[in-house]
Amino acid sequence: MNSSSSQPAFNDRMLSLGLARVSEAAALASADLVGRGDEKAADQAAVNAMREQLNLLDIAGVVVIGEGERDEAPMLFIGEEVGTGKGPGVDIALDPLEGTTLTAKDMPNALTVIAMGPRGSMLHAPDVYMDKLAIGPGFAEGVVTLDMSPVERVAALAQAKGCKATDLTVCILERPRHEAMISEVRNTGAAIRLITDGDVAGVMHCAEAEITGIDMYMGSGGAPEGVLAAAALKCMGGQIYGRLMFRNDDERGRAAKAGITDLNRIYTRDEMVTEDVIFAATGVTGGTLLPGIKRAPGWRTTETLLMRSKTGSVRRMIYKTPDQG
Ligand code: FBP
Repeated sequence: MNSSSSQPAFNDRMLSLGLARVSEAAALASADLVGRGDEKAADQAAVNAMREQLNLLDIAGVVVIGEGERDEAPMLFIGEEVGTGKGPGVDIALDPLEGTTLTAKDMPNALTVIAMGPRGSMLHAPDVYMDKLAIGPGFAEGVVTLDMSPVERVAALAQAKGCKATDLTVCILERPRHEAMISEVRNTGAAIRLITDGDVAGVMHCAEAEITGIDMYMGSGGAPEGVLAAAALKCMGGQIYGRLMFRNDDERGRAAKAGITDLNRIYTRDEMVTEDVIFAATGVTGGTLLPGIKRAPGWRTTETLLMRSKTGSVRRMIYKTPDQG
């Protein structure tokens, strides 16, 4: 119990295995939809399975980053209560299928992702874009900032790493809105790994630069994915900065609904995720961080990354299970 209340404490150690099960279940549910060209069906299968497993956990959970507003998402909507209601009050950020198109096309790095922390620990980011910048661990805080130009960011990181700009690789979502950024980074001589989707994985790649070859992530993507990436980096180490972007009054209204008043604020990792969290991600399609689901006659095998920010522990869990189909 918490000393200040009768609420059960957030026992991250005990809850982490349950979180891995939730992530695994979502991945397994989408296994037969990998490469089948149906993004919606893959997403729906993952959502259903994630919700079913979450509701078995002894938590009084609230989805703060979910599938969308209640009127847009029938399940795992923002504000939905999940769990048996018998345990600690927790915030949950989730993306049952991060990379629906990657899954439908069987392209790399589709993941199921979920993070859990004590109630009030995660930014209630509205479903708008966020300008993001991330690097891995081992650098002084603020060595690169969102206020720097792409050229300045590359120069600052190269100096901090003691290497040349040409030794760095920057990951960017391939979108028309990023054309200017891409050409500025190209002019520095740095390499660019363009990804078609999946910026949670893109940011996580920075935390394991020796394995992934990615030194920095930059560009705009979903704000909910920004909070999930912040939760991942809180466990793995590394910095992420995010600034919400608003294109119209409807989006500004979403911010107001989420209680956000300073629309220009730059959030650090620890402002997006203010307390220790647990994080699980399961590979759906094969990628640099995690292998995808393996399907053999009668069997399915998944690999899950399970992490706790309190201890910095990182587990890789392989789960082999008979095919339920
Ligand atoms: P989905 O899994 O919902 O398709 O999102 C994938 C994604 O690539 C995110 O990783 C990223 O933050 C966002 O979409 C980018 O949005 P957009 O496609 O509008 O540029």
